[in-house]
Amino acid sequence: MDGQVVYADLNLSRGSCLASSSAPSLPQDVCQGSSWHQFALKLGCSAVILLTLTVIGLSVSVIFLRRNSSVEENRVDVQENRNETTEKLNLLKCPEGWHLLPEKCLFLSPIPNTWKDSLTDCSTKESSLLLIQDQEELKLIRKQINEKGMLFWIGLNLTLSEKKWKWINGSFSNSNVLQITGYTKERSCVSISQTGIISEDCDTENRWICQKELKPVRNKVCSDS
Ligand SMILES: *[C@@H]1O[C@H](CO)[C@@H](O)[C@H](O)[C@H]1NC(C)=O
Ligand SMILES: *[C@@H]1O[C@H](CO)[C@@H](O)[C@H](O)[C@H]1NC(C)=O
Ligand SMILES: *[C@@H]1O[C@H](CO)[C@@H](O)[C@H](O)[C@H]1NC(C)=O
Repeated sequence: MDGQVVYADLNLSRGSCLASSSAPSLPQDVCQGSSWHQFALKLGCSAVILLTLTVIGLSVSVIFLRRNSSVEENRVDVQENRNETTEKLNLLKCPEGWHLLPEKCLFLSPIPNTWKDSLTDCSTKESSLLLIQDQEELKLIRKQINEKGMLFWIGLNLTLSEKKWKWINGSFSNSNVLQITGYTKERSCVSISQTGIISEDCDTENRWICQKELKPVRNKVCSDS
């Protein structure tokens, strides 16, 4: 009996052990384990997502900033270029002793010489004998002539073959612009005074006017930067 009871007790306790500790505890453990695992997974996932988002956010803001700063740089470049260009134009001042006209500098010689020697003198000054574009320019040039009756050679002479007035740049003179009076034989060269445009023998000694044209210089420094 006793043994039976013990056996039954043992059996009971074993049964209860089996029932209470091992059987229900197994799925509980699995459950607990899986919930921790899931939590860790969720945490990990969130961390990864957060990191990814941060990285994306950072890259986007870096790209944005870079683009902005390059726009800014471009703006500065344009500004600098503009300054450079205006400086270039300002640097193209007339040399000392030359007179500034719109778009050109004039040199009025203090001494007389032949037309040919005047032509040579201007080229040694890295300029040319005066070319006159129109009546407006002629007016401005005449304002630079102080003495009445003083004649100044300009870059215009008579061609032997065609008997036409030709500028030293190769163009023929438009008689509507300049009405030339005087000598029209061979070897005729043109000079101007305060009031007239007169042709004379090219070997006559007159003063002369050289010109340098003012053009915005487009050189390497300006265009490459
Ligand atoms: C351009 O010139 C102006 C005035 O001349 C000056 O105020 C400005 O700072 C200059 N900009 C640059 C980029 O040099
Ligand atoms: C030559 O100079 C004259 C007078 O300034 C001008 O009318 C003409 O256009 C010039 N020709 C050339 C080819 O530059
Ligand atoms: C007239 O000018 C041309 C250059 O345009 C020159 O070659 C020629 O010798 C000049 N004529 C005279 C007579 O000086």
